[in-house]
Amino acid sequence: MYAQRMSGFPNYVNNSDGLPPPYTKSREPRSRSRWSPKAWTRKVTIGVVAIAAVLLAVIIIAAVLGSRANAYPDYSPLHYTLVDTYSGRTFFDNFNYFTGYDPTAGFVHYVPRETAMSEQYNLTYAGSDSAILRVDTSETAASTGRFSVRIESKKQYNSGLFVFDILNTPYGCSTWPALWLTDQSNWPERGEIDVVEAVNQASNGNQMTLHTSKGCKMDVKRKETGSSLTKNCWNETEGNAGCGVQGEQDTYGQGFNANGGGIYAMEWRTAGIRIWFFDRSNIPTDIPANLTNTSAPNPEGWGKPLADFPNTHCDIHNHFKNQSIIANIDLCGTWAGEASVYSKEDSCPGQCTDFVSNNAQAFETAYWEWKSFRVYTASD
Ligand SMILES: *[C@@H]1O[C@H](CO)[C@@H](O)[C@H](O)[C@H]1NC(C)=O
Ligand SMILES: *[C@@H]1O[C@H](CO)[C@@H](O)[C@H](O)[C@H]1NC(C)=O
Ligand SMILES: *[C@@H]1O[C@H](CO)[C@@H](O)[C@H](O)[C@H]1NC(C)=O
Ligand SMILES: *[C@@H]1O[C@H](CO)[C@@H](O)[C@H](O)[C@H]1NC(C)=O
Ligand SMILES: *[C@@H]1O[C@H](CO)[C@@H](O)[C@H](O)[C@H]1NC(C)=O
Repeated sequence: MYAQRMSGFPNYVNNSDGLPPPYTKSREPRSRSRWSPKAWTRKVTIGVVAIAAVLLAVIIIAAVLGSRANAYPDYSPLHYTLVDTYSGRTFFDNFNYFTGYDPTAGFVHYVPRETAMSEQYNLTYAGSDSAILRVDTSETAASTGRFSVRIESKKQYNSGLFVFDILNTPYGCSTWPALWLTDQSNWPERGEIDVVEAVNQASNGNQMTLHTSKGCKMDVKRKETGSSLTKNCWNETEGNAGCGVQGEQDTYGQGFNANGGGIYAMEWRTAGIRIWFFDRSNIPTDIPANLTNTSAPNPEGWGKPLADFPNTHCDIHNHFKNQSIIANIDLCGTWAGEASVYSKEDSCPGQCTDFVSNNAQAFETAYWEWKSFRVYTASD
């Protein structure tokens, strides 16, 4: 296209005097002959118009690309109201216990509520100040997989501000713990929001990830302190890696636990999904410590989130619906148990499943402890 338009120019270069060939010579003084439109031949006029058109197109395209690169949603504050508090001795009453085969191929048996709550196993325990969910440490030869727990909230949500107050995160070779949201029976069409997730020794910090059906990308302007990983959230790309953001080391695991844990707050609204992390000593004053205080926080004053998933190239409203809050501790499976991760990246010993079978005591550090989960909603 471009070369064709350029050929509309007379070829002056080959003339020894550098002047137009004789037939284009005009009676106008030489100073005006080239620069006055009246003197242009039809070919020259077409050429100049074409160049102007190309320049205009380039300017418009640059402006459009520039404004696209700068596109960012309007996250102006919403007015939240507290709708659910998961805390105290009734913590687990608002969850179903998932007992099917592990959808992510882990070496684990997710036990029913009765087993988890039994004195013998005590895998979920709700005290007045905190709730615990852990992996079994009693079976010394768990040859078909170790007992663990996966809970899913009975209630489903379509947006909101979720404040997870966490005292302890599970870690250790073979573990794959997560605190996340999805609609398991409509995955990935209704989306998945992984708020807290790590594998094995979890020495790389927390990973926050979205998984979706086709048409959700994060190759856009974002305001976040974490490091973005792959940017296509569609489950059919990058082996279903999702679009992730990695936090610093102490956002999960040993360092996080030593600091007394902290708060993960996830805001899910039409404009986007944002996740903040606050360690125990830096919790914003508008998140009440007192659980009977229903005063709602306002993320506007919290500064940059750790992860930002704006709606610029992802219709958040349509990709995320009907989400249950899920917490579990998987073992091995399609992430923690992959040899490239388990042995290579995380330097864990032997085979993942052998390790799970034979090392009951290794799971002493594999427990979640939560102070509370609070959910606020707004008309969005
Ligand atoms: C269950 O675990 C909790 C928390 O660790 C503990 O306080 C409680 O005594 C345990 N119950 C039994 C029966 O072991
Ligand atoms: C919402 O999600 C739950 C849990 O996956 C599912 O049982 C239910 O059918 C879903 N609701 C609708 C309206 O699809
Ligand atoms: C992605 O989701 C589709 C359903 O929409 C499913 O058929 C497919 O197996 C999934 N692929 C991966 C890699 O998870
Ligand atoms: C409730 O919490 C908010 C935010 O922390 C605080 O400003 C307010 O004083 C508290 N209200 C009561 C009655 O303690
Ligand atoms: C918690 O707040 C409620 C009302 O907001 C108040 O009545 C109660 O005394 C507070 N508890 C503590 C331990 O401060």
